[in-house]
Amino acid sequence: MSKQRILTGITTTGMPHLGNYVGAIRPAIRASLSDDNLSFFFLADYHALIKCTDPNQVHESTKQIAATWLACGLDPERVLFYRQSDIPEIPELCWLLTCMTAKGLMNRAHAYKDAVAGNQAAGEDPDFGITMGLYSYPILMAADILMFNANKVPVGRDQIQHIEMARDVAARFNHHYGEKFVLPEAVVDDQVAVLNGLDGRKMSKSYGNTIPLFLAPKQLQKHINKIQTNLLEPGEPKDPDTSTVFQIWQAFATPEQTAEMRQKFADGIAWGESKKQLFELINAELEEPRAKYEELMAKPDEVEAALLAGADKARGYATALIKELRAAVGIKPLG
Ligand code: TRP
Repeated sequence: MSKQRILTGITTTGMPHLGNYVGAIRPAIRASLSDDNLSFFFLADYHALIKCTDPNQVHESTKQIAATWLACGLDPERVLFYRQSDIPEIPELCWLLTCMTAKGLMNRAHAYKDAVAGNQAAGEDPDFGITMGLYSYPILMAADILMFNANKVPVGRDQIQHIEMARDVAARFNHHYGEKFVLPEAVVDDQVAVLNGLDGRKMSKSYGNTIPLFLAPKQLQKHINKIQTNLLEPGEPKDPDTSTVFQIWQAFATPEQTAEMRQKFADGIAWGESKKQLFELINAELEEPRAKYEELMAKPDEVEAALLAGADKARGYATALIKELRAAVGIKPLG
């Protein structure tokens, strides 16, 4: 059987946090180690421009995210690891797909609809501040996926609709021009934890409740100390299942360590002590990648070289397919 192609894009705005690590980075890198899979991981810097118009932030974030994935053990020899903007065939494919995408389909995209609803609630024109980038965002994402005929796309729930749109557009193209694209599937892994943040809501940059992934140890401890708890005193039994400290513990612990911590909660461990132990557990896992990350951030040329080598490999796939697609739509030499 040929390998399953697994593809994931990471938008280059912001700095990775513990939730990204547990929910996306760690499981993706683990999956990439299986010989059944061929993984495509890329930095979605064209997508970043949709939400971020600060060039410095886009640039810094690209470096940070690339260094993070490499530091966490991504093997660029094994995985196709590249930057979206280094593959000119992606925006080219995006146009071919744009011409196969019903406007009505884009009208139904959640991100666009949310923006319109926000404007209406604020008494603004429905299209206020909405760019064509935001509107057509799902088509660029479809191009990312279809360019490499990915079978599986691991995503959070908020992205499922985009994968379904990619399937729709691919099916329409196939129907019109002949079978060119594999229809991708979204994979939402329920085993993977969605971490809670400092305030107990889902850890997310938009809530400002994150714990950044590569903090210095002191800063990491400080952030962990800020996790919201209740007023129960040392010695009073605590409920692990409503505790963010316990929830994060579980994401880093072995099943035995989790059972032990559950018992400690029942025995009334003090919140301060539980946070100290949580810090030690997380720090032990992150110590080595953190050192590697600092090293890479000091040598951005190495990161750049890894990305360019990845783009070279990825273009091996992309140029072959785009040639076929151009011919299929009638763009080919006249002779
Ligand atoms: N839109 C995705 C997000 O915000 C990032 C992304 C861009 C992506 N292109 C992709 C994810 C292709 C999976 C496949 O999370």
